[in-house]
Amino acid sequence: MENMSVNALNHLEISNTDTTKLAEKYGTPLYVYDLSLIKKRIQSFKDAFSKYENKTQVAYASKAFSSLALYEILADEDVSLDVVSGGELFLALKAGFPAERIHFHGNNKSYQELTEAIEHSIGCIVVDNFTELSMLDEITRQLSAKVDVLIRVTPGIEAHTHEYITTGQEDSKFGFNLSSGQVERAIETLQESPYINVIGLHAHIGSQIFEVEGYKAVIGKLMEKADEWKSIYDFDLKVLNVGGGFGIRYTQEDKPLPLEVYAEAIMTAVKKEADQFDLTLPEIWIEPGRSIVGEAGTTLYSIGTEKAIPDVRKYISIDGGMADNIRPALYQAKYTGVLANKVIEDHLETVSVAGKACESGDMLIWDITLPQATAQDILAVFSTGAYGYSMASNYNRLPRPAVVFVENGHDWLAIKRESYQDFLNLEVSSK
Ligand code: LLP
Repeated sequence: MENMSVNALNHLEISNTDTTKLAEKYGTPLYVYDLSLIKKRIQSFKDAFSKYENKTQVAYASKAFSSLALYEILADEDVSLDVVSGGELFLALKAGFPAERIHFHGNNKSYQELTEAIEHSIGCIVVDNFTELSMLDEITRQLSAKVDVLIRVTPGIEAHTHEYITTGQEDSKFGFNLSSGQVERAIETLQESPYINVIGLHAHIGSQIFEVEGYKAVIGKLMEKADEWKSIYDFDLKVLNVGGGFGIRYTQEDKPLPLEVYAEAIMTAVKKEADQFDLTLPEIWIEPGRSIVGEAGTTLYSIGTEKAIPDVRKYISIDGGMADNIRPALYQAKYTGVLANKVIEDHLETVSVAGKACESGDMLIWDITLPQATAQDILAVFSTGAYGYSMASNYNRLPRPAVVFVENGHDWLAIKRESYQDFLNLEVSSK
């Protein structure tokens, strides 16, 4: 994996930091984020997409992983931010992230959330449905506050990925459907709102995508419509947001495309459609989440008990599992890893890694070949940076793990480990 090495002690290092020392210092389970890799990925996206004639904007989809410290760091990077709730917005603003670089998404934004977003003059709201349009109209009139919006379109295009993480198909809770005239009605409605400025369209076709056809298809569809709407509604497509979804490597089976390949396909398709319809080249916005933080995250676990069933399999149990990484249980996601305290050994065995929760489905990895593991060995599981911490739970009253950042030999705490006392802070005794 990128920016990882094995040191003279046969220990796994991430960005020149010995992971066994991290496990000792902060305890396990522990999410370790390689900050240099996050910054590098942002830069790679910018480099790949900025080679073209039209302007581009990269917005980090922070649902993949958010923390105050990350928002603070991203505030100093030249990147925008996609938030999907009042909670993410709150944390980003607390971190001093510039409001004008924040985009607000979601299919059920509340009146309160929309009001907060407008009061803080955030950069853009991605409007999702008619209920939201009337709330926005009311709020902006009341506050006499202008707001830029993108219209989220459900384009009827499915990316080839897991059913739960595709969002572009017509029968979806997200956005205005393209085929049934909903987008046209949204444009007409928005034209009646004196404070709402429509700057363009948005579509997100899914996640963990390893091909470019879906992006090209969506661009073709939306730009053809933009041409139609130009004459009917005087619609000006200043911005086309093609969402996120760029695939990453969890295991050797995943073959992510170089970012230049996505960029080339997207930017060339936009240029081609713009030329064909004689449209001004729109700005292209993208919203990568997983592909910014996914491979930058590694989870460290301590190995505890084992159970061998002769001629069937050997289970080794770790001190975390589905509470800190729900993805294997929810999406049958596959992961791989190494023993961080003895990476390279001659004697290997195939084991299955079980989580700690009282649930048979809590299996983190089926059949992984590792050096012979015993209690207290440290298992490092790769590519856990996206939708791990952000989807973590307290199932079985397991405290959420701590999060540390590492960069060129330095490590520091980004999120504290939850404690039992933290549980008590929310509890109300009946005595
Ligand atoms: N933009 C929109 C509108 C989205 O809905 C999403 C993800 C993204 C951007 C970022 O997608 P990414 O680049 O991270 O693939 N929990 C699932 C993923 C859910 C994705 C939801 N939307 C998982 O663990 O795979």
